[in-house]
Amino acid sequence: MLRERLSEPVAAADAAGAQRPRRLRRSSGLRRLVRETRLSVDRLLYPMFVVPGDGVEREIGSLPGQLQRSVDRMGAAAREVADAGIQGVLLFGQAAVKSPVGDEASASDGAVQRAIGEIKAAAPELVVFTDVCLCAYTDHGHCGVLHGHTIDNDASVERITEVALSHAQAGADVVAPSDMMDGRVGAIRSVLDAEGFSETAIMAYAAKYASAFYGPFREASGSAPAFGDRRGYQMDPGNAREALREVGLDLEEGADIVMVKPALTYLDVIARVRAEYDAPLAAYLVSGEFAAIKAAAERGWLDERAAAMEALTAVARAGADIIITYWAPEAARWLGEGPTH
Ligand code: PBG
Repeated sequence: MLRERLSEPVAAADAAGAQRPRRLRRSSGLRRLVRETRLSVDRLLYPMFVVPGDGVEREIGSLPGQLQRSVDRMGAAAREVADAGIQGVLLFGQAAVKSPVGDEASASDGAVQRAIGEIKAAAPELVVFTDVCLCAYTDHGHCGVLHGHTIDNDASVERITEVALSHAQAGADVVAPSDMMDGRVGAIRSVLDAEGFSETAIMAYAAKYASAFYGPFREASGSAPAFGDRRGYQMDPGNAREALREVGLDLEEGADIVMVKPALTYLDVIARVRAEYDAPLAAYLVSGEFAAIKAAAERGWLDERAAAMEALTAVARAGADIIITYWAPEAARWLGEGPTH
C-alpha cells in the first residue's frame, strides 16, 4: 500500500534503508568491531636462509631486506625474530659442495643442522621448522635423485628421509618436506618414530605447485634446476581437486600440518582445503609474490605496508592458520602498532 504511493526511486531508497551494510563501515571503531579476519603475529612463520661459511650476512638481491647468514650469525638473528613476537622460523640450507645425491643435506655438521643448535641456544622458545629438500644440495638442482634425466621417486624418498632424520637429530621441532615425491611423509614418519623422534612433527608441502613465483627464492638458495623444470613432481597450476587428494594422502601418511604453496595465486585451493579438512593448514606467500609487491613499492606504485597487510589478510581469510612470509618481522612491527583503519 505504502509502496503504491511512492515513486520508484523513493521505493529503492526505502529498501536500502532496511539493509545498509555501509552503516557498519562508518568509523574505524565500528569496522574493527565487526572485522571477520584479524591478523595476528601468532600466525606468522619466518623463512630464513642459512649458508656455509663464517661471518656471512649477505643481502639477497631478488628478495629485498632478506639475508643469507652463516651459522654463527643465526643465534642473534633468531633472538631478534623471537623478540618481535614471532613464534617460529623455517630454515633453508645450502651446500658448500653439491653432489648428485646432495650428500651434505643430511650431514650432521651441515649448515642447517648446526644452525638449529645456535637458534635453540639463543631463543629456546622459538619453534624451529626445517625445509627438507635436496635441490640446494644436488649438482643438478632437482629435488630428488636422478636416473639419467628422470627422477627416481623411491630413491629420492630414501634420501629425503635421511635429511629429515638429521634435522630431527639436530633438534628441529617440525620437519617440512618440500620435494613433492610420493610417499615421503609416511616414510619420514616411520623413520622418525623408529629412531625415537615420535614427537617431531611433520609439516607437509602437500599441495605445492610448479610455479613461476619461486624465481627469487632459487637465487636465494642456489637451487635452480640445471636442466628441465619441476613439472614432473610439483603440481599443475590448473588442478584444484588434485590438491585435495594430495592433502588427503599426506594426512593419511601422518602429516601434522599441511601446506598450500604459493598462497596468493592459490587462494581458492586454500579455501577448498580448509573446507574439506580440519588439520592445521599453512600457506606460503612465496618469494615471487613478495618480490612483486616489494618491487612495485620501490617504484612508488604500491604502498608496501597496506599491500602486504592486505595480502596476508587475504591468505588468513581464505583459511590458512599459519602464514609463511618474508614480511614476518615487518608485519610483527606493523601489527604491534595496531590497525591503521
Ligand atoms: C625447495 C623449495 C622451493 C621453495 C621452498 N622450498 C623452491 C622450489 O621448489 O623450486 C620456494 C619458496 C619461495 O619461492 O619463497 N624445493
